[in-house]
Amino acid sequence: MVEKRSLFFVALLISAMQLKAQQVKSAGLKDYYKKYFPIGVAVSAGDLKDPGEVALILSQFNSLTPENAMKMGPIHPEENRYNWRDADSIVAFAQLHGLKVRGHNLCWHSQTPRWLFKDSIGNLVSKEVLLKRLKDHITTVVNRYKGKLYAWDVVNEAIDDDSTKFLRNSLWYQICGPDFIAKAFEYAHAADPDAVLFYNDYNTERPEKRERVYRLLKQLVDAGVPINAVGIQAHWSLNEPDQKELVETIKKFSSLGLKVQVTELDVSIYPWEKNMRKRQPGETDALTPELEQKQMEKYAEVFKVFRQYRDVITGVTFWNISDKHTWLDNYPVPGRKNYPLLFDQNLQPKKAYWKVVDFK
Ligand code: GLA
Repeated sequence: MVEKRSLFFVALLISAMQLKAQQVKSAGLKDYYKKYFPIGVAVSAGDLKDPGEVALILSQFNSLTPENAMKMGPIHPEENRYNWRDADSIVAFAQLHGLKVRGHNLCWHSQTPRWLFKDSIGNLVSKEVLLKRLKDHITTVVNRYKGKLYAWDVVNEAIDDDSTKFLRNSLWYQICGPDFIAKAFEYAHAADPDAVLFYNDYNTERPEKRERVYRLLKQLVDAGVPINAVGIQAHWSLNEPDQKELVETIKKFSSLGLKVQVTELDVSIYPWEKNMRKRQPGETDALTPELEQKQMEKYAEVFKVFRQYRDVITGVTFWNISDKHTWLDNYPVPGRKNYPLLFDQNLQPKKAYWKVVDFK
């Protein structure tokens, strides 16, 4: 009798699993969120040659962000040479399949080309020269994709990591002072007046960082700079942000009349760390059932907030497709695997996926 009953439950479980598998085939994140906002994913040109990843992208997402291909280093390796190949192929894929594209990014302190800040004998260039280079770069890149991209991350991460400081002491800042930020937006707007222009940053839910980002945004808005929106990168973890911090950030930024997007979402199973370090002896890296549960709860919580703020949130983008490959593998701990996304290493939906599409 007991055996019969457990057989019955096993059969029930199997049919429930089959039903879920069926649902994955028929509806994706983009369909569940159709009435809310586009659901995007960061991709490389290589991802778009892998049939399994392509199938997952097309079933789940309706917006793409080039993960690296449009950054200044990769796309503009020498002053008089652009490398359009990867960026063009991502944009062509998006056009073929009717996907939106967010451009990422036009001005950042990291992944810059070697030539950018230096003259021919290796000295730092003047402010005039650097702003001219920025203008040429932005004008050329934005023009090329005009009408095919609907948004650009214009300035990325200009706020310092040190909470007692304001703007990051990057070479942009050292050479131009704060002006490069407004200029970047002006150049982008001149090149494509229809593009939605973003300031994009991380840890924006931490109160001290939120205040400094807000201060910058307010300065830009008050000065009439053509900024339309703010990107909350959302490189999060199991304990961060809490719901209140996230809500505060969305409310505060949107109070300036800016739209908000979640631009680089992932939920690391480890606490946030920025500096590279060695893996400690005994430090494990498995996605245990307990961690998977916590990750599911965090994803459920943040998506609930996103849905509540659908009037100001105009997009949610994941940073990478599945746990098969994420930028958080080996970062900041070489040799350590991470599992921050909604799809597992076999491209199958994880527990968190089912919570994200369950609107109860
Ligand atoms: C930042 C950048 C992204 C990406 C991630 C980590 O958030 O905006 O382009 O480089 O770091 O990969």
